[in-house]
Amino acid sequence: MTRFVVVGLGARSRIWLRVLGEHPSCSVVGLVETDPGRLAEASEASPGATNGGTLADVLERVEADVALLCTPPGGRHEQIATACSAGLAILAEKPLADSVADAEAHVATAAEAGVPLAVGLNFRYLGVTRALKKLFAPDRLGPPEFGRFTYERWRDGRLAHLNKYPLTMQQPMLWEQSIHHFDLMRFVYDAEPVRISARTFNPSWSLYEGHANVGALISFSDGIEMTYQGTWAGNWQHMGFEWRTECREGVALQRDMFGDLGYALRDDEELTSVTLPAEEPWVDDARALLDDFVDHLDGKGPLPCPGSDHLQSLRMVDACIQASSRGETIYL
Ligand SMILES: NC(=O)c1ccc[n+]([C@@H]2O[C@H](COP(=O)([O-])OP(=O)(O)OC[C@H]3O[C@@H](n4cnc5c(N)ncnc54)[C@H](O)[C@@H]3O)[C@@H](O)[C@H]2O)c1
Repeated sequence: MTRFVVVGLGARSRIWLRVLGEHPSCSVVGLVETDPGRLAEASEASPGATNGGTLADVLERVEADVALLCTPPGGRHEQIATACSAGLAILAEKPLADSVADAEAHVATAAEAGVPLAVGLNFRYLGVTRALKKLFAPDRLGPPEFGRFTYERWRDGRLAHLNKYPLTMQQPMLWEQSIHHFDLMRFVYDAEPVRISARTFNPSWSLYEGHANVGALISFSDGIEMTYQGTWAGNWQHMGFEWRTECREGVALQRDMFGDLGYALRDDEELTSVTLPAEEPWVDDARALLDDFVDHLDGKGPLPCPGSDHLQSLRMVDACIQASSRGETIYL
């Protein structure tokens, strides 16, 4: 069994506790949370686990293999340092940190300790993501050259089941949401960002103190040009998601975060839809990521979503912020 200590018992931890609980070779041996009410509630659901207010405190009383960080991204230094000095592997929820400098420090700390550090980029594991990536094969649509990614959501951050810390972040959309989108673009296009111009702002009706909107022009290696619009203050309760990629032979079009993928060759009248596997969003993708992570610990495969790779997506977030505040194009 791979023994996990889950640190931070808020919204995201519920998915992980379920997935870990259902996994044949994983167990939850520790629970860490600074809020006593939340700690008590989670401990009731996992009565066998050792609980406490800090990772160090829990690790004094139980042996473990992995620290799964479901804490807010800011201020994880102590959690990372404690996990590293105890020799635990780390699976940290995205974003690894709320600044590139902190994320680089975490990656360096883990590397010095010889501890694997993976990031919870579960969207890479959705059936739609895998299917989209395959469409760019030379014998299908061919290489992408440009595209448009729009994510327009009214995210009511006051809802009880949602985390609260983004309400006061300076750039909540970028650090919390666009980070997934930037990672997805890098992953499916197999390309790295080279140049970003961007504008971030906050519409008058936004619930967020920081900027809920970002518009960006992103140039990737291999000459791929992307137009990105993301918002948590889209002013309609219905979600708008559209990711269209223009390739040598035609277009790929994803119209839902979790599915609705189609493609068309230039002269096609209709879009051809792509059959996707049945899956439970949030759960099956987390499960697949966990499988790869555990396989890696068992010496059976590469580390999925390494922290060092994630730094590139975080640099895109930072480049958007710099580009907007300085009114300049940022070269990565
Ligand atoms: N991959 C995804 O799809 C996805 C989805 C949602 C959230 N997340 C990420 O998961 C992380 C947590 O988000 P959330 O929605 O669960 O937030 P949350 O605010 O609901 O939960 C965070 C919990 O951590 C606790 N905490 C804070 N500091 C702590 C510390 N030092 N030690 C122990 N506990 C501490 C808080 O009290 C809170 O209960 C964030 O990085 C977020 O971006 C990822």
